[in-house]
Amino acid sequence: MDRPDISTAELVALLEWYHEAGVDLAIDEAPHDHFAEADAARRQKAQPVARVVPSPASPEQAAQSARALAAEAPTLDALRSLMAGFEGCELRRTARQLVFSDGIAGARVMLVGEAPGRDEDEQGLPFIGRSGKLLDRMLAAIGLDRSSVYIANVIPWRPPGNRTPTPQEIAICLPFIERHIALAAPDVLVCLGGPSAQTLLNQRDGILRLRGRWFDYDCNGRVIPALATLHPAYLLRQPAQKKLAWRDLRALQAKLRG
Ligand code: URA
Repeated sequence: MDRPDISTAELVALLEWYHEAGVDLAIDEAPHDHFAEADAARRQKAQPVARVVPSPASPEQAAQSARALAAEAPTLDALRSLMAGFEGCELRRTARQLVFSDGIAGARVMLVGEAPGRDEDEQGLPFIGRSGKLLDRMLAAIGLDRSSVYIANVIPWRPPGNRTPTPQEIAICLPFIERHIALAAPDVLVCLGGPSAQTLLNQRDGILRLRGRWFDYDCNGRVIPALATLHPAYLLRQPAQKKLAWRDLRALQAKLRG
């Protein structure tokens, strides 16, 4: 192919522009049916599916169906396979796979982020990209790691181009993460970032107001202390704010010791 008449700096600027716009996958010159590819990848990964729950007619019905399905799950494995068969959230059509959890179910601390990104979507595990690496370092600073915490997201499928999930998508997925927390039954819940804190703690304030505060998370009548803190992706963009995250981590450490 002829090299286009464009300098390296211009090429880098163009790629950055695409990336900002959410185009973060390399494609080639032949057209691809990405929906078919995602379906094929899903079939190949063969995540256990309890049963396929077909796409409901409206988002309200989808949320209702998610709630009924989540309530049926007696274990985390059952929840995972019910979610793998749920077709009520459009995000699963563009995502490669369900990103359910990482870490140890039953750990004292459960961290909940927003939604998987590209790396998580590829590997099927939450927080394994750049923000995940920072999260690992943050946990290590207070003596924790993935063998002593449990990690999940409010949304278990990657939103295309890492866009923010819509309120409808959040409403549809909320019953799943609520059941997920109930079944994991942590002693302490940590909400990573605004969308997680606002959704799970039923708050409207931004994360800079919510962070560092403890809330009561009502888990079917059992109250779990829940801490809102800054999302590692935000800290990668605003490293000066790490001092605030450090305060939150110390508060978490004190709570676990207390
Ligand atoms: N950001 C999140 O909120 N969750 C992930 O799993 C990865 C990045």
